[in-house]
Amino acid sequence: MLTYPQRQLALKEDPKTWLITGVAGFIGSNLLETLLKLDQKVVGLDNFSTGYQHNFDEVEKQVTPEQWRLFSFIEGDICSIKDCKTACDGVSYVLHQAALGSVPRSIEDPLTTNANNITGFLNMLVAARDAEVTQFVYAASSSTYGDHPDLPKQEDIIGNPLSPYAVTKLVNELYSSVFAKTYDFKPIGLRYFNIFGQRQDPDGAYAAVIPKWFAALLKNETVFINGDGETSRDFCFIDNCVQANIMAATSAKQDASNQVYNVAFGERTSLTDLFRLIKDRVSPIYSGAEKAEPTFREFRAGDVRHSLADITKAKTMLGYSPEYSISAGLDKAAQWYIKRFI
Ligand SMILES: NC(=O)c1ccc[n+]([C@@H]2O[C@H](COP(=O)([O-])OP(=O)(O)OC[C@H]3O[C@@H](n4cnc5c(N)ncnc54)[C@H](O)[C@@H]3O)[C@@H](O)[C@H]2O)c1
Repeated sequence: MLTYPQRQLALKEDPKTWLITGVAGFIGSNLLETLLKLDQKVVGLDNFSTGYQHNFDEVEKQVTPEQWRLFSFIEGDICSIKDCKTACDGVSYVLHQAALGSVPRSIEDPLTTNANNITGFLNMLVAARDAEVTQFVYAASSSTYGDHPDLPKQEDIIGNPLSPYAVTKLVNELYSSVFAKTYDFKPIGLRYFNIFGQRQDPDGAYAAVIPKWFAALLKNETVFINGDGETSRDFCFIDNCVQANIMAATSAKQDASNQVYNVAFGERTSLTDLFRLIKDRVSPIYSGAEKAEPTFREFRAGDVRHSLADITKAKTMLGYSPEYSISAGLDKAAQWYIKRFI
């Protein structure tokens, strides 16, 4: 099986056409940057519901003008089958990221989350199937493990979903396996575990914990920890996630399709430890953070208590080999947040 560097080299020598949905978002824009740097042709689809033009502006600065010209953008909605069909036309690989993230958002507004994450997903499956794309890789979620207590999480042992968001991500997996059985169309689902890094949105009510805490410490605002601080997560740096997508899409192994894989680093960090790790990176730059201490408040509805992935399956079947530990990833993320806020 080819390694990630070998796979990248092969793509450079024989470029392909990729579709990234959710391309203006955090993960989508990082996929875009890497693929353009590999001289791939990229079609992007986004409706800017939680994505931004400034993510494109940043990617444009990271690539050459020739590489930027390889990108064509469709402002459109996965809830429109027409937009999905237009986007899938002539594409080899689909990296489907578009969805409404956030457990609390889905609890407040389950209808909108359902429409984007289930109807939108089904539209994309139908469009990609009809366009006969080579591989369809989609963003699944560790929330699918729900209330199952076992650690580390292994792909075939899941519990009951704890939020509307988790239901939508589970339904994505169910539709995918039904498409494999009924249409011989075999997607690959990547169950992301708390991905973090450059361009993850620090603003808004539904921001994820790492960008929120970088922003709070850099702006001298209170950091809130929901619960007792012992809640833990398998935080995974964005470059590992990008690697998993490229390895999944280009996997030559026949039995690698119609599967789901954990995408994580394989280590667990408590929220209290995470606070220290972020504070250690902010304090040398912004002395106001040195004395900061977190404020503890109620546990949040719909949250799982602990999360840790077994990543053996992705390593064995896809050749996934995450390069960045949480510490190495936080070093890189810190540079980006410091530049943004200072
Ligand atoms: N970030 C994580 O830790 C994490 C964890 C598990 C799963 N995921 C999944 O990964 C994917 C990407 O997440 P992200 O963190 O980059 O979020 P994000 O909000 O930054 O990106 C999502 C993008 O999808 C776009 N989008 C949403 N609905 C759309 C629609 N109907 N039509 C077209 N575009 C639409 C948004 O505008 C945005 O640009 C999502 O499917 C999310 O559920 C993320």
